[in-house]
Amino acid sequence: MKNQPLIKSFVRRHGRISARQKTGLQHLKHTSLMQGDELLSGIAKDRSIICEVGFGMGDWLLQEAKKHPKDFYIGIDVYRPGIGSVLSSVHELEIENIRVIEGDVVEVFHQINRPVFSKVVLLFPDPWPKARQSKRRLINPEFIARIETVLCPNGMISIVTDSQSYSEQIQDAFSNANFCSLDINQHTLHLNTKYFKKFQSKRPFIHLYKWLS
Ligand SMILES: C[S@@+](CC[C@H](N)C(=O)[O-])C[C@H]1O[C@@H](n2cnc3c(N)ncnc32)[C@H](O)[C@@H]1O
Repeated sequence: MKNQPLIKSFVRRHGRISARQKTGLQHLKHTSLMQGDELLSGIAKDRSIICEVGFGMGDWLLQEAKKHPKDFYIGIDVYRPGIGSVLSSVHELEIENIRVIEGDVVEVFHQINRPVFSKVVLLFPDPWPKARQSKRRLINPEFIARIETVLCPNGMISIVTDSQSYSEQIQDAFSNANFCSLDINQHTLHLNTKYFKKFQSKRPFIHLYKWLS
């Protein structure tokens, strides 16, 4: 496919999928076969749409969607156990304001290609810590340009990483982009995600906010 990056920011893991996750996956519409506007079909125009990229097991996505029923949440990931788990919860709890898209966010954003999201959230994007792997990091100038096309005017991006070197790379990548007012907050952050729990005792968190003017 044209525009497809050669280097992916993820490795597809074929880990064990539980019976509950398998049931959840049966609810996944074939979003990878949908194109452009179809991905967002049926969402009322007056609702704010928040996108979580790389939701993992979906803790934040589920929690926020329950907390803000007027908003609509789109989760994008490639991790099938997590996708199955979120979709099971969505059906068990009859949550109507979450849609899950299975796919590489780089391709999904390219398909959407217009300003639809009021907020894009990335919690603990894979840090690819070894120097030779740093090209695999998702957040780079090309990806930021993709975010710019899908964020609404005055939209916001929120990124949390535990990796100092990734944080520096992210700040560098944003410094040339059409965003303004960066707020870096290394404390007072509490999240309920798997990776937050894993790292909270080990490293300071870097929380980056960017507002698109
Ligand atoms: C380190 S995990 C963090 C999971 C979760 N946000 C948390 O805090 O527990 C990173 C997630 O990003 C997803 N991911 C990485 N690259 C991606 C891409 N290009 N498109 C969609 N998801 C991606 C991975 O599959 C994984 O679920």
